[in-house]
Amino acid sequence: MTIKISVLVSGRGTNLQSVIDAIENKDIRNAEIACVISDKAEAFALKRAEKHGIDGVFVNPANFSSRAEYDDKMLEILKEKETDLVLLAGYLRIISDSVIEEYKNRIINIHPSLLPSFKGLNAQKQAVDYGVKFTGCTVHFVEPDLDAGPIILQKIIPVREDDTAETLAERLLIEENKAYREVVKLFVDGKLEIDNRKVRIKE
Ligand code: GRF
Repeated sequence: MTIKISVLVSGRGTNLQSVIDAIENKDIRNAEIACVISDKAEAFALKRAEKHGIDGVFVNPANFSSRAEYDDKMLEILKEKETDLVLLAGYLRIISDSVIEEYKNRIINIHPSLLPSFKGLNAQKQAVDYGVKFTGCTVHFVEPDLDAGPIILQKIIPVREDDTAETLAERLLIEENKAYREVVKLFVDGKLEIDNRKVRIKE
């Protein structure tokens, strides 16, 4: 069976690219990207999709009067594409509870900190400003509470004394890209099991 993945994006799309590459080079088997949905017309992620022959859709928030309406449209596209798994990859909008309910345990996000530290925006800057010695990234299932769903995988990197938010983000991105494709592979291979908040990786 082929797992159909839809990816929600707002920006440059390196995490999307990492998953595209892993599917193309057969590191991830039995999966395809059904579509990429963006809330920003200029998102470079849409160009990446186009280059790889993947359907890219820009859903313009200006055409909808509420988040619920916007997300209804998104849900319609996800269903039309027979989506099995939704990836948030640099998607800057909050997702309605109705979408999360519909795709329970089938929406995954990546966040550039070791959750539960430094939730929300500018997580790398938060880490530098706080003075932590290590930070990392977290791949997790999405629940209605922001950045609080069950944790699937984390990767850790040291924070250097001379790090700025930018230098840290750049080093972290390499780990993020690895973490995301590893998790997608685990999901597609049916290796993730959720027990309350705990995610177990089956052998
Ligand atoms: C990443 O840092 C991710 O952790 C955060 O947004 C950024 C997206 O980067 N959620 P990209 O668009 O995948 O390159």
